[in-house]
Parts: sequence; structure tokens; C-alpha cells
Amino acid sequence: MLSSAILEAVPDAAIAVNQQGVIIQANSQTEALFHYTRDELIGQKIEILVPERQRGQHHHHREHFHERPKIRRMGSGLDLYGRRRDGTEFPVEISLSPITTDHGMMVLSVIRDISDRKRIEEELRRANEELERRRTRELRDYQNRLSLIVDSSQDAIIGKNLDGIITHWNKGAEEIYGYSAEEIIGLPITTLAPPERADEIPEILKKIRSGRRVEYFESVRITKDGRKLNMSISVSPIYDAEGNIVGASTIARNITAQKKTEDQLRQSQKMEAVGRLAGGVAHDFNNLLGIVSACTELLRNRVGPENHEYIENIIEASKRGASLTRQLLAFSRKHPTQTLILDLNDRLKDMSKLLHPLMGEDVEIVLIARSSTTIVEADPNQIDQIVVNLAVNARDAMPRGGKLVIETAIAVVDESFRRDHPTMALGRYVVLAVSDNGIGMDEATRVRIFEPFFTTKEIGKGTGLGLATVYGIVKQSGGHIMVYSELGHGTTFKIYLPSADHKLGVVTETQAEAMPGRREGVTILLAEDDPTMRHLTRKMLEEHGYTVLEAENGIAALEVINGSHGKIDLVLTDVVMRGMTGPDLVLRLLDSHPDLKVVYMSGYTGELITNQGLSGGVRLLEKPFRRVDLLKTLDATLG
Ligand SMILES: Nc1ncnc2c1ncn2[C@@H]1O[C@H](COP(=O)(O)OP(=O)(O)OP(=O)(O)O)[C@@H](O)[C@H]1O
Ligand SMILES: [Mg+2]
Repeated sequence: MLSSAILEAVPDAAIAVNQQGVIIQANSQTEALFHYTRDELIGQKIEILVPERQRGQHHHHREHFHERPKIRRMGSGLDLYGRRRDGTEFPVEISLSPITTDHGMMVLSVIRDISDRKRIEEELRRANEELERRRTRELRDYQNRLSLIVDSSQDAIIGKNLDGIITHWNKGAEEIYGYSAEEIIGLPITTLAPPERADEIPEILKKIRSGRRVEYFESVRITKDGRKLNMSISVSPIYDAEGNIVGASTIARNITAQKKTEDQLRQSQKMEAVGRLAGGVAHDFNNLLGIVSACTELLRNRVGPENHEYIENIIEASKRGASLTRQLLAFSRKHPTQTLILDLNDRLKDMSKLLHPLMGEDVEIVLIARSSTTIVEADPNQIDQIVVNLAVNARDAMPRGGKLVIETAIAVVDESFRRDHPTMALGRYVVLAVSDNGIGMDEATRVRIFEPFFTTKEIGKGTGLGLATVYGIVKQSGGHIMVYSELGHGTTFKIYLPSADHKLGVVTETQAEAMPGRREGVTILLAEDDPTMRHLTRKMLEEHGYTVLEAENGIAALEVINGSHGKIDLVLTDVVMRGMTGPDLVLRLLDSHPDLKVVYMSGYTGELITNQGLSGGVRLLEKPFRRVDLLKTLDATLG
């Protein structure tokens, strides 16, 4: 028998069973657990405490234990149950120990109720499952959100492994490069690099492998359909959970449009600066030339005939110098112009007669008018100069003859057009395109052709002012010039001049546009050096009731005003006149007539006028003006 004191000391139910499976001893914990009294248990088969369905199995375990008795847990890995007196069951854990006694070998089973543990385990398992479910759902949501963000990006977001094989490809990449994800995943990232940039890719991958990033790297990439794009590229390493670099993520932004804008802006700023410089030099140089030629003229009669040859040389040289400065002034837009409303087609038709002798026998000249009316506001001489300069260049580019094509058309610059040409104003333009099928230009030449003195021609053949002049004229007219040329593929110059249709159109609408009311008893002093212009303006004014005093220049105007007894209400004066300019005249008059009202007229551009001493706030009537413009301006000034 086992010591019952020891049995009682065991915290679990302890039962001693003999070889036949009969209960010999049990402690009080057994009574409490199974709700049997000890007396009821002793002498019973141990299976009384096992649910019926497990009894067979239990029996089998018991026999097995007797064959190889040693301390162990019963049926480890099995779900064992105890059965109470009332038939209810509860999960148990049983450990078995063989004990040798005087009555032979016995087995001590220690039985523990593990209901609580089971319950806690079950709850834990359920909680874990719930947690797992929630985590999966959150992860899925997060991934969905992430891929939405990635896909909604207009930038290309690309994943690649360390060999440069593409593994991820977002919608932005699809849009920019033209490949679908299915097409490109699995291909090397070098697919996107143009051949001349292929070296960059291994360099980038090398950096990534060493854990470095590449930031805002500007390069060129190529689309599926072969277009080259300026891209700003950032690449960062991707790490796995252990911190190893396993690939790279690329964010690439298409900066082609931005680059183009920057280039155009830089180009126009450069031309602006060069123009200012050229204009300044030309202006001063012109004055010097004036002195040189004046002095030369004076010298002519003071030197002997044997020296006349030298005098002629000086005069000839200063003439050439003057012609150079004229071209420079045209380029720097400081050239006075007399603009008219004219139809470019008509002007070209007249011009083309001139072009034939200029171009020679072996150049075919083709004129194409794609629009029947091509109205611009321009100086006809300047139009001629544009065409001649371009034609001469074309001839030089076709030493063995060829074709010169001059086309005109109407184009509308809208927002979409402006994306490519951000410096252009919206509206209708007349396009003049001059093309040749000559030698063409490479890019290095093309980007510099508008610079003054840039020439590829041998010394003595070209001064490099032809296109600079054209550029200046076009800019002065509010237009734009573009060049398309490839070496060996000829050249096209396209000039956009603002259409002046509307100015013509209103000639018929003038009647509809309300004329200001007649003015009686208002006296105007009209100072204008062009007699036709003066006459026409006077007629317009008198027909409207004004009293007009005429003067053919500033000095004459002063005389008129001093000699007149009546009051003069307003001075209408040209800006640039020989002798005394309009602003000078006004300055003099304001001394004696501080209340005098002034309106300027000018065919010069605003830029030139501001150099003439006109301050802000003065009224300027741009020539050519319509009658209604004249009358309205006067009305507004008189109040
Ligand atoms: N139609 C063209 N085809 C090929 N190259 C051209 C053409 N037009 C101009 N170029 C290039 O542009 C350069 C500059 O032209 P630009 O008319 O300003 O000067 P130039 O013809 O060299 O000299 P200039 O006109 O003052 O006598 C030329 O030297 C030439 O290299
Ligand atoms: Mg030229």
C-alpha cells in the first residue's frame, strides 16, 4: 500500500491501480474531482472514471503500460476525458508511474482537471484567429490603398530586382512609357534607356546594391513607340525583413514639357540680352559713323585729288558700317517701322518676281497660299527683308539648285498649342513658311542661327546677320519664328505673325460701332510731319466739328501757338519728328499752358516710344488708327 499521507500531498487526484485495473487507493482530491466517495471507488475498475466511448482505448493503454512500465503521460497528444459520477465529462491530463509493492506492481495515475486550461487555450486560439483575421483584412485594405495610391500617381513607379529586371509597373509608368504591365514585367529596365544612355543603368544598380539612393537624376528615356522623354528619376533600394537589399524602386517623372519651356525661356532671355547689347552698340556706333562721314565730307574739299581715293574708301566703309548698324538695330527691335494692314499673299506675289533673279536658274520657286486672306499688320519693307534673307540662305544651302517653297496659312494658337510654345500668345496667326531642300543643319548650328554674327559661311561670304534681322523683325511684330532642319534634309522656317483680320473686319463694323458725338468749338493743334497723314487727320477732325490748327513740325507748332489768339484745347502730335520731337514740344508748351491736354500719335512700337521721353499715363494713338479710335481717344482726353 502507498502512504496515504503522500497521496494526500499530491495536489491532483491520485489513484493507485493494480495490474488488473482495479482501484486500490484514491486520495480525497479524487473524490472531489469525480464526485465518488473513496469507498465507492475502491475495488472498481479504473474504467469507471473514463467515458464509455474511451473505455476500450483506455484498456488498451493500460495493457501497453504494463508491458513497458515507466513514468510517462498517458496517451500524450490525445484528448482524454474523465467521467464524473453523474456522467458529465471533463478534459484531463493523466500521468502514470509504476510502483512496485509487496502485492506486485501497481500504477499510480495522477489526474488533473484541465478544463480551465482548455477553456483558456480555446479562448486564446479564438482571439488569435480573430486577430489574424483582422490583421489580414487590414493588411489587404492597406495594400489596396497603397496600390490605389501607386496607381493614381502620374509618375512612373517601377520595381526592379538587383539584376535590373522589372517586377512592378504602375499605371503612371504605363501611361508614360506606353508598355502595359504584362508586356514589360520580366524585361530588363534597360528596355527604357536609349542606346546612348544604356551605361547609366548598371551605374544606378551598382549604387543601389551598395545601399545608396539616386535622387532627381535627369536623363532621357524612350517610350514603346520610340519617343524620347526627359525624365527626372529617383531610385531607392528595397530591403527585405532581414535588412538585405533585394531590389529597387524607381519613381520617374516626365519633365519633357517643363524642360522645353525652360529651354525656350532661356533661349528668349539670351536673345533678349544679345539684342540689348547689339542695340546699344549699334546706337553708339551709328553716332560715331555719323561723325566719321560728316568729317569725311568736309575733308573731301580740303585734300588734293591724289588723296580722293582714300576719302572714297572711308565713305564706302562708313556706308557699310551704317548698313551693319541698321541690321543690328532691326535685330534689337530698335528700328523705326511704318506698319500697314496688308495681305501677306499679295505682298509675296509682288516679291516673287524679285526672287527669280535672286535665286538663279536652277532653283524652282513655288508659292502656295493655303488661305485666301492672310492679313497682318506689318512694315512691307520688313516683310520683304524677311523673305529675301530667308531666300538667300536657302539659295546658299542649295549650291546645286533645288526648290524654294513659300507657303502661307492661318493658324490658331490655343491652349494645347501653347503647351509646346509657352511663350506664344493665344489667338489667330498668319503663318509664313519658307522651305528649301538644301543641305540642312545639325543641332549645334540650329540652336545658334538667330544670334547676330553667327555664320558657318567662309569669311567674306556671310556676316551672320541675316537671321538675326529676321528674328528681330518677327519679335517686333509680336510674332514667333521656328526652325525645322536636319542635316541633309533641308530646312523650313515658320514665322507666325499675329493675324490682323479683326482690324480689317471692323472697317465694315465701324458704322455699327458708336461714334462719339460731334464737338463744336474745340480747337486742336495738329503737329505731324507726314503731309498725307496730316491732311487725312485734319479732315477726320473737321468733319466731326473740331477746329484744327496745323503744323508740319515742332518748331512750327510753337509758332502757331504763340501766334494764335484763341484758346487751344488739345495738342495732337506725332512723336518722332525732325527738329523737335513731340515730347520736346509738349515740354515747352506746358510751361505756358499748364492745362494743355496732349495726345500722341505714333507708328513706332511702344518700346521705342518709351525711349523718346514719354512718361506713363500719356495717351498714345497707334498708327495706323481708325477714325473711331481717333475720335474716342480725343473724347476721353477732353473729358
Ligand atoms: N536654309 C538654310 N539651310 C542651311 N543652313 C542655314 C539656312 N539658313 C541659315 N543657315 C545657317 O545659319 C547661319 C546663319 O544664317 P544668317 O542668315 O544669320 O547668316 P549668314 O547667312 O551666314 O550671313 P548673312 O545672312 O549675314 O549674309 C548660316 O551661316 C547657316 O549656317
Ligand atoms: Mg543669311
